[in-house]
Amino acid sequence: MWSFQRSLIAMVSICSTLLSTPAAQNTAYTSCSGEAKYSPGSSFEANLKLLLNFLSSNATKNNGFYNATAGQGSTEVAYGLSHCRSDFSSDICQTCVSEATKDILTQCPKFKQAVIWYEECFVRYSNRSIVAINNETLGWHFGNPSSVKTDAGFKQVLDSTLSDLVTRASNVTLSHSKFNIRFATESVKYGAQTLYGLAQCTPDLSGNDCGHCLRKAIRFLPQCCDRKQGGRVVLYSCHFRYEVYPFFNIKDSAPSPPSTLSSLQKHKGIYHNETDLSRGGSSKSSGGHMSPLNFS
Ligand SMILES: *[C@@H]1O[C@H](CO)[C@@H](O)[C@H](O)[C@H]1NC(C)=O
Ligand SMILES: *[C@@H]1O[C@H](CO)[C@@H](O)[C@H](O)[C@H]1NC(C)=O
Ligand SMILES: *[C@@H]1O[C@H](CO)[C@@H](O)[C@H](O)[C@H]1NC(C)=O
Ligand SMILES: *[C@@H]1O[C@H](CO)[C@@H](O)[C@H](O)[C@H]1NC(C)=O
Ligand SMILES: *[C@@H]1O[C@H](CO)[C@@H](O)[C@H](O)[C@H]1NC(C)=O
Ligand SMILES: *[C@@H]1O[C@H](CO)[C@@H](O)[C@H](O)[C@H]1NC(C)=O
Repeated sequence: MWSFQRSLIAMVSICSTLLSTPAAQNTAYTSCSGEAKYSPGSSFEANLKLLLNFLSSNATKNNGFYNATAGQGSTEVAYGLSHCRSDFSSDICQTCVSEATKDILTQCPKFKQAVIWYEECFVRYSNRSIVAINNETLGWHFGNPSSVKTDAGFKQVLDSTLSDLVTRASNVTLSHSKFNIRFATESVKYGAQTLYGLAQCTPDLSGNDCGHCLRKAIRFLPQCCDRKQGGRVVLYSCHFRYEVYPFFNIKDSAPSPPSTLSSLQKHKGIYHNETDLSRGGSSKSSGGHMSPLNFS
């Protein structure tokens, strides 16, 4: 049973830290929680290590979403999941999850609940079941330091782009797959600028939960990103990002490398929507290849 006081304590004990992992040349956020810690040599520790191994060795299955459980009984079981951003190749997904499953142990030592987020993936574990539960807890948000110079039209374009992303990410259906991919990207040209957006939910959510989660995430915008050229809001079960430069992987010309997640190759067209408002708002769904760009 969770009393109000207990949940307050849990909230206070959540620590969010910014750390950098030289190996991945990447920035990660972590959140470690749970009042009681596990002790060294406990069955929870053994189960957690087993769990992280399962996640790492199965990271690229189901289009980059994997959930697993380690242990039996009621109190020492470790539950976890890993999720890659759907526009990255399975090689990148694998590297990220491998790194994350190592880092989470050093960043959240002895915590019974933790999550570590990278650009390419996140890994989360708990001593309670977490799969198929829409968790709209705020992980972190971050506004691009640059502000929009002239705000004319920007907010309107941003609002409609985000709303379109929510609808599309929530409605993706892949009948052959155990889990739907809940992912959408968008580029909207307006005037001389282009706005790029991406939204994703964990695929264990229903379409409705995904929509609910993303709409909640959007409500955090004023806190991080008012008049900002870019922003990210990450909740436990969903996240979105927008920028005025391309930050996700979509290329029309390059052939897909064999390492690309196979379902994405088959279904690539449905994830990206390209609109040119300066040409009267005509929209088309672009069948771009999802292949890694070189981010530096
Ligand atoms: C999970 O761990 C917390 C302590 O962090 C404990 O209070 C709770 O009972 C545990 N839940 C389960 C299902 O084991
Ligand atoms: C994938 O995880 C399962 C349990 O979730 C485990 O039994 C299996 O060994 C893992 N697969 C590989 C290739 O390690
Ligand atoms: C992942 O979660 C689903 C839905 O709860 C469950 O059916 C499945 O057994 C889980 N997979 C693993 C490897 O634990
Ligand atoms: C969301 O996850 C956090 C961390 O595991 C947990 O404290 C919280 O109770 C969860 N909320 C829901 C609604 O499951
Ligand atoms: C693409 O985006 C535009 C602008 O946000 C929207 O009006 C249109 O309905 C979208 N098209 C599809 C296929 O989702
Ligand atoms: C799915 O799409 C329909 C029609 O475009 C929209 O009304 C609905 O809100 C979308 N679902 C969610 C969960 O956003």
